[in-house]
Amino acid sequence: MNVFATRKLPEEVVDKLKQQVTYSEWHSAEQPMTKAELLEAVKDADGIISVLSDPLDAEVLAAAPNLKVISQLAVGFNNIDVGEAIKRGIRVTNTPDVLTNATADLTFALLLAAARKLSAASAEVREGKWQSWSLLQLAGKELSGATIGILGFGRIGQAVARRAKGFDMNVIYWNRSKKPEAEQAIGATYHELEDVLKQADFLVIMLPFAPELKYLIGAEELALMKSDAILVNTARGGLVDEQALYEALKNGRLGAAGLDVFEQEPVPTDHPLLTLPNVEVAPHIGSSTVATRMEMADLTVRNLLAVLQNKEPETPVN
Ligand code: GLV
Ligand code: GLV
Repeated sequence: MNVFATRKLPEEVVDKLKQQVTYSEWHSAEQPMTKAELLEAVKDADGIISVLSDPLDAEVLAAAPNLKVISQLAVGFNNIDVGEAIKRGIRVTNTPDVLTNATADLTFALLLAAARKLSAASAEVREGKWQSWSLLQLAGKELSGATIGILGFGRIGQAVARRAKGFDMNVIYWNRSKKPEAEQAIGATYHELEDVLKQADFLVIMLPFAPELKYLIGAEELALMKSDAILVNTARGGLVDEQALYEALKNGRLGAAGLDVFEQEPVPTDHPLLTLPNVEVAPHIGSSTVATRMEMADLTVRNLLAVLQNKEPETPVN
């Protein structure tokens, strides 16, 4: 069996694989493959280990006639044409659960950073602009008593809600289906999307991307929000209309934003959002703790080997 990984992976992860399959990998841990390189690399693959920047569309799947499994090293898999994979009898797997806490932590880190103007605060110290104490120096937004609105109440959305309860926040959520048990266990309340937008002091987007959710948050939705609300997106860039977000932030119709994801990644350095002082950013590192990333890599390998050995993978997508 031939297995190809689209990124260079740590030796300890790959060692286990090499004992069981003919393994090859892309030469770089960071540099993505081009579509042409991908088309060439998958020709003989029985299994692929993929990451979220790999466009595994119908063309790439057609170029891999032996392919049996795509093991995605991420929870999201909107880079994969799963419908086409089903047609071709290709199993797709992902890495849910193991990254829930790490991703919820990073979500909260951005929320807190935006609430307390952490980048500006850090710059003030480093750039010698710290003069003295002043009453409203870098004064930010209080979490306790504030309402957090969570869009998407899956595993990560619920983990964010649990953290919010620890900060004494009022937790409301919108999800395509109501989650009465989680509501009860966590102490959260379901509201219609429009009501969540209107009531939230902090709006956190925790939905998987789907084409029908593209620009779920656009100009109209932002207009419903409080003018000092803070928006946090650690899910997928395409869920938010970045132009509309920029205009709302620039024109004082929204307080601040914390963004780990962008429609185009890496986000171009001349992107208008990056010119705003009330935007905290990170380079799509939601799940990136050492422990979680190693667990994700191990789960990816286990899923891949399970399918190649005709066993049921732990976390299948299809
Ligand atoms: C990260 O965005 C993931 O989907 O794992
Ligand atoms: C999404 O897949 C989640 O785990 O919440």
